[in-house]
Amino acid sequence: MKDAVQTKTILRSLAGETLPTPPIWMMRQAGRYLPEYKATRAQAGDFLSLCYNPELAAEVTLQPIRRYGFDAAILFADILLVPQALGADLWFVTGEGPRLSTITSQSDFDVLKPVEAIHDTLNPIYETVKILRRELPAETTLIGFAGAPWTVATYMIAGQGTPDQGPAHALREGNVALFEALLERITAATIEYLSAQIEAGAEVVKIFDSWAGSLKGDAFQKYAVAPCAEITTALKARYPHIPVIGFPREAGDGYVGFHAATGVDCVALDNSVSPDWAAAHVQKHGCVQGNLASSHMVTGGQALVDETRAIVKAFSNGPHIFNLGHGITPDADPENVTLMIETVRAG
Ligand code: CP3
Repeated sequence: MKDAVQTKTILRSLAGETLPTPPIWMMRQAGRYLPEYKATRAQAGDFLSLCYNPELAAEVTLQPIRRYGFDAAILFADILLVPQALGADLWFVTGEGPRLSTITSQSDFDVLKPVEAIHDTLNPIYETVKILRRELPAETTLIGFAGAPWTVATYMIAGQGTPDQGPAHALREGNVALFEALLERITAATIEYLSAQIEAGAEVVKIFDSWAGSLKGDAFQKYAVAPCAEITTALKARYPHIPVIGFPREAGDGYVGFHAATGVDCVALDNSVSPDWAAAHVQKHGCVQGNLASSHMVTGGQALVDETRAIVKAFSNGPHIFNLGHGITPDADPENVTLMIETVRAG
């Protein structure tokens, strides 16, 4: 008899199996392109209230599973809940994005809470995970996640998203001791946060390093590779059977060797790298995830079909999980998601 692990396609790919059809899920699959998401978000009041309401957060996580039958569900939450749990102020400005209190001096850092305190804020997230494990179909894998320390630090330092992560680079050049202390606090909090998600029922965890691409050379090694390795090593010591997906977005050549340097089971690829190049240089070291441009979910048509087929074909000789190269955008057409899934599953 097969156990549950072997019947979940995503877990099979993450264990290194090459499947005839890649399993599929989509970054930001619960999001504003879906009318049912917008309705539940309105019911919750605002985005953060939705994240901290376990019943409604579970509901929006399940919506894309019901509509499309994705092979994985990703916990509905946000990478910026960890800064909030560490004591940063966090709010979202409609049409603009997140805002946080900034950390630019030792005194800003000194008011942050200790790592053990994060669960006081994050307990509702673990409740969402528990509900999902009860309610998800037996074949659907539940993915938990957190932001990578560098990406989370860029928001904590600047107090908002920035095009070039300038304030974070300025701090790491101007006050490396403070920058590294912040990174260490986030790293330790992330290990505890992901451990709690796993204890609650997450079957896989993903580490989102959305701004890894702005770290070059030695800085990429120190602030993208090393923290991801530290988190992965700590999780593997506690939960050896839980696969980890790393996403050093826009790492380019930095994707090569990322599996071995960090211990992750799968490297997620953005769409700036070609599937043929990534198959030759990254997938040869382990499972990869990706990497259709999310713009196809807006434009659709034959180009979507052709590019989806090309990605499936390029990665067909090794373990692969189909996904977008970044999150789906609010202007996407839900019909194009259906077309992508049908194209992948038609083989
Ligand atoms: O993928 C999923 O469906 C799971 C949930 C999820 C969200 N954010 C929900 C969300 C995940 C995995 C994230 C990760 C996240 N959050 C990242 C890393 C991945 C990436 O996109 O690069 C980052 C950088 C954030 C921070 C963040 N959250 C920003 C910059 C924004 C505003 C930009 C935007 O898209 O509006 C958010 C808001 C956010 N997080 C939304 C969702 C569904 C939109 C909120 C809304 O409903 O208004």
